[in-house]
Amino acid sequence: MDTMVKQSLAVSIKKLSSCVTGVKEREVWARRRAKRGTGGVKSSPPRTGQTTVTHSYQTDLEKERKLREALNAQKHAERAAMRDHFRKKYQLSKSSKDTSHLSAAQGKVALPRQLAKLIGPETPAKDDGYSLLSAFQGLNFNMGMLGGKQTKSSTPMSVNGEACKTMWSVSVSPSMFQGIQGMCVSVRPAACVRIQRGMCVCPAGTVAGLGVEGVTPARGGPAERGGGRGLRRFEEIPHTGSSGWLNLVMFWREDRFKLLHKHMERTFNTLGPIYRERLGTQSTVNILLPSDISELFRSEGLHPRRMTLQPWATHRETRQHSKGVFLKNGAEWRADRLLLNREVMMAPAVRRFLPLLDEVARDFCRQLATRVEKEGGKEERGLSLTIDPSPDLFRFALEASCHVLYGERIGLFSTSPSQESQKFIFAVERMLATTPPLLYLPPRLLWRLGAPLWTQHATAWDIIFSHAEKRIQRGVQRLRSTQAAGGGSGGTEGEFTGILGQLMDKGQLSLELIRANITELMAGGVDTTAVPLQFALYELGRNPAVQEQVRVQVKAAWARAGGDAHKALQGAPLLKGLVKETLRLYPVGITVQRYPVRDIIIQNYHIPAGTCVQACLYPLGRSRDVFQDPERFDPGRWGTQESGEGPGGGGGFRSLAFGFGARQCVGRRIAENEMQLLLMHILLSFRLSVSSSEELSTKYTLILQPETPPRITFSTL
Ligand code: HEM
Repeated sequence: MDTMVKQSLAVSIKKLSSCVTGVKEREVWARRRAKRGTGGVKSSPPRTGQTTVTHSYQTDLEKERKLREALNAQKHAERAAMRDHFRKKYQLSKSSKDTSHLSAAQGKVALPRQLAKLIGPETPAKDDGYSLLSAFQGLNFNMGMLGGKQTKSSTPMSVNGEACKTMWSVSVSPSMFQGIQGMCVSVRPAACVRIQRGMCVCPAGTVAGLGVEGVTPARGGPAERGGGRGLRRFEEIPHTGSSGWLNLVMFWREDRFKLLHKHMERTFNTLGPIYRERLGTQSTVNILLPSDISELFRSEGLHPRRMTLQPWATHRETRQHSKGVFLKNGAEWRADRLLLNREVMMAPAVRRFLPLLDEVARDFCRQLATRVEKEGGKEERGLSLTIDPSPDLFRFALEASCHVLYGERIGLFSTSPSQESQKFIFAVERMLATTPPLLYLPPRLLWRLGAPLWTQHATAWDIIFSHAEKRIQRGVQRLRSTQAAGGGSGGTEGEFTGILGQLMDKGQLSLELIRANITELMAGGVDTTAVPLQFALYELGRNPAVQEQVRVQVKAAWARAGGDAHKALQGAPLLKGLVKETLRLYPVGITVQRYPVRDIIIQNYHIPAGTCVQACLYPLGRSRDVFQDPERFDPGRWGTQESGEGPGGGGGFRSLAFGFGARQCVGRRIAENEMQLLLMHILLSFRLSVSSSEELSTKYTLILQPETPPRITFSTL
């Protein structure tokens, strides 16, 4: 494409260049004068063609004038955008002059790097939400070229943070670009031509955005590693077959969905670190190296997007429920997410809910100890009991979630746990298991047809919603009665009444949105923690030396903390490593997806903005290029020595089980603390062992889980 563009522009640029500057004409006449040896004798150019040249010269002067105006408009708009940003930030009144500059630019102002830097950081904050300034993250423009200096550029961005995808499709004469090497502005139609999404033709016939002189190559990718080969087209990315429907049929026939993680690992081994895959209507680019993943996340934009779980969205739409952060996108998502972050992710919130999680973890261990005492067999050193702990772990996760979200215990550790809670756990399991096959079918059609798969899925969601609804209604009643009594969110002064109580008390989210988000947190908070806990117990059981090492640290930290759970966790970094290591080998979600807002280059392939790119966590965690001895279970590897650059580079982009950046898992802090606390109390009370040291076989049902839940022996210490 770039060659075509260059070819089609080259002739007219040359012609124009001579017309505007007159250089060629002057040279021709000088040469003729020299030939004739006329020296001081003045001669006129021949009359033939003179009128044409004059006319062309005037036309080009006119074009130059227009271009100057375009540049001035861009300059004014840039400055106006910056002033407008600071006025908004400091809540000053608007300037009509700036507003008119901005409206002349139709609100789409490409800021040069220096100005963009002034008003926003280049990379998103890694943790804990983001600030107003990050509204300008990722702005990266190519105005440095104006001075003739070639700089790296990317697809221009507008001030609203979205990629400037819609370059004006006005046909522009190349003469417009005379003298402004590399310019690519989005202020005036004349300055930039849309050829294909995210690309724009620049003056000298180069194509910014296609990477010829544009997009930043992935750090550590072949281009930078010295391959020096030309950029390759998107279509050249190795793929698993071009027919999405044929692939889908194969997947179904061979039951590959269940082993999607293994399929990914095999495909990377065969095709290399990047490949494309089409399944039904979905098409993705799959990557695994941290350096490539970092490139992807750097282009995620202000409102990062994941692949939509359409069956979930269809359930909300057909039942007329609002969507929570999991299913929302854009500014709506961001507004809800910032409010949730305050109650779920920020340090003060964690301090509030940590004791609640600790209480449930201790109860779990007490109940287990009673069971070992009653049912366990005698051993040399005490009592031991071998069980499949998964049902207890699911109950633990639900009890912990309810305690944190609603501030209420639902009594799952009692001798007769309620039928309703058991039903909830089955419903979450059903909902997760029916999601993957529905992802590749049109859910609305299935809904209309009343297909059994859809009915099972929707019914599971209905049970999840009604479970949450009951608790929300109780919360509302509690709030009303305490408000009537002149109190706060339903508790006495200083009492934490759960995240629900906090959200209601603040009153910033409507009740409908609170319902939507709390239900999502409930649905997302049970299996996601119960399943990695099974893996962690199994790995501790089959690695007794590792188990002992962690226990020694935990015991010391617990003794020092004097019963303060927060202090104990801080004093035992191996617990954190244990959770990270478990999720490295068994990531709950096997991929994290993003749609880059600008064109990027990964492994020297051009990837247009808007492509669905997945970081494949399962193959990443087991890759020899990224981790030393990847098959070794070693929580200590996340300490100082290996937390930085691994063999595959990419720094922090090796531990991504919770996703990344502003869109990372909102339940992360709950999950991490919940898992660490339970493992801490288990290690303080029991020695764990397993009868086989075989690797666990796994299956994928939207989350990665053991094919068969492992049996663990709990022995008293
Ligand atoms: C080990 C446990 C967990 C893991 C590994 C995990 C993983 C993830 C991942 C990978 C994402 C997508 C992040 C991204 O796109 O960058 C995510 C999103 C999410 N998770 Fe979790 N999660 C866990 C536990 C939880 C818990 C306990 C809750 C609820 C209390 C929860 C609620 C959510 C929600 C609501 C989102 C959507 C956030 C958004 O789009 O803004 N997760 N999780």
